Amino acid sequence: MTTDPLTPPSSVPPLTVRPITPDDAPRLGDLLQRCSPETTYNRFFTAIRRPRPATLQWLAEVDHFRREALVAMCDGAVVAVARYDWTGAADDQAEIAILVEDAWQRRRVGTTLLPLLTDLAIDRGVRVFTATVLANNTAVAQLLRRVFPSVIVRNEGYAHTVTIPLGTPQGLALAPMPRSGGVPTLAKTVT
Ligand SMILES: CC(C)(COP(=O)(O)OP(=O)(O)OC[C@H]1O[C@@H](n2cnc3c(N)ncnc32)[C@H](O)[C@@H]1OP(=O)(O)O)[C@@H](O)C(=O)NCCC(=O)NCCS
Repeated sequence: MTTDPLTPPSSVPPLTVRPITPDDAPRLGDLLQRCSPETTYNRFFTAIRRPRPATLQWLAEVDHFRREALVAMCDGAVVAVARYDWTGAADDQAEIAILVEDAWQRRRVGTTLLPLLTDLAIDRGVRVFTATVLANNTAVAQLLRRVFPSVIVRNEGYAHTVTIPLGTPQGLALAPMPRSGGVPTLAKTVT
């Protein structure tokens, strides 16, 4: 199992974005091993590096309705994941989280994934995204402000609570892709 970061080409790389499948569990494990401790800490609030198989399975197995995750793929590897999970706090609220592998950060991967995830969520009845982010995580704060101008950030010391009222879909639906063995049928190539 490689632990080297995947090196993206110097030009903006083409990535395929698609919904996660249970088969992605080991790819998520590889992704987390390639990430820096800072990146995984910012995502999970703990220095997770070798998650248990059950954790990976839980992350990879979603129902594509109350829980959704989009993966950005390059050469068969998952290089980023954006997800929402209905929290149960309210019928129309879901919590979001995103992780982009270090070598792919600042390449607009997050800027691409979040609107796609948002359109799926709105279609399924989500009206508000929430997130908890570390107070010193300026990268995600900037990303959220860029993608969601209506974001509301409540300072709670160590972490910030983020609330994002969602508008109408931007028509960013993922394009159909060939179905194989029950795999979700949406995909998008990002260049
Ligand atoms: C936060 C994160 C998802 C951003 O993803 P990304 O694909 O690198 O973001 P983008 O390239 O789309 O950047 C969009 C904007 O966000 C801001 N931004 C992104 N990374 C930044 C950084 N390290 N420092 C400051 N601003 C940053 C910039 O304004 C950027 O626009 P610009 O490049 O034109 O200046 C990524 O850094 C990451 O995975 N971090 C670790 C996990 C994490 O923090 N998750 C959030 C909690 S769930």
